[in-house]
Amino acid sequence: MVEVVVPPLRVGAGVVLRMLRADDAGRLADAYLHNREHLAHWDPVRPASFFTEPGQATEIDGALQACLAGLMLPLVLESDGEIVGRVTLTGIVRGALQGASLGYWIDARFVGRGVMSAAVAEAIRLAREELALHRVEASTLPENAASQAVLLRNGFERIGYAPHYLKIAGRWQDHVLYQRILHD
Ligand SMILES: CC(C)(COP(=O)(O)OP(=O)(O)OC[C@H]1O[C@@H](n2cnc3c(N)ncnc32)[C@H](O)[C@@H]1OP(=O)(O)O)[C@@H](O)C(=O)NCCC(=O)NCCS
Repeated sequence: MVEVVVPPLRVGAGVVLRMLRADDAGRLADAYLHNREHLAHWDPVRPASFFTEPGQATEIDGALQACLAGLMLPLVLESDGEIVGRVTLTGIVRGALQGASLGYWIDARFVGRGVMSAAVAEAIRLAREELALHRVEASTLPENAASQAVLLRNGFERIGYAPHYLKIAGRWQDHVLYQRILHD
């Protein structure tokens, strides 16, 4: 069990990166609803319950339990009391790997302002300094140039190409694989 306490961090454009909280369910449901079209091409198909406060309360409960168990670091982006994105380290594995997977999205109104580049930089710092991880991996759809730019700017290197890797937007789709080794 690992308890990581992350103080709120400014990441630009009036946006703060902070830990996910149990009382975020309503705000998260609103964010997913407002960004449903923006995210549909990049996300798994979601059940209708995902876009509701009770559905998000269940999701948050699972994430906070995984966090307490040392398996996940769930962060959100907040602006003016609204949730405007997420940054999550999932699948934390100890032993010889000391690694995790990184996922993220930002509200359509905030794209292209450098916020995610800054937020990923903070997530990487937390992975190294607070979680003592050795490696973070990420994957993108081949056409996701914005996400690839965020990763490359943060020192990730392309390490491969995985056919039929993740079921995104209802189809098993190829992904480009990236990693960042944290102790350079
Ligand atoms: C990917 C995403 C998180 C990027 O967030 P962001 O805050 O806009 O990212 P930043 O502003 O920090 O950087 C984006 C970079 O991509 C570049 N970019 C944006 N669209 C691009 C495009 N179509 N082609 C090439 N580069 C593009 C921007 O120019 C910028 O690079 P630069 O600052 O060097 O010019 C955001 O677009 C998003 O949430 N997309 C939908 C969900 C998603 O794709 N999640 C990631 C799944 S792997």
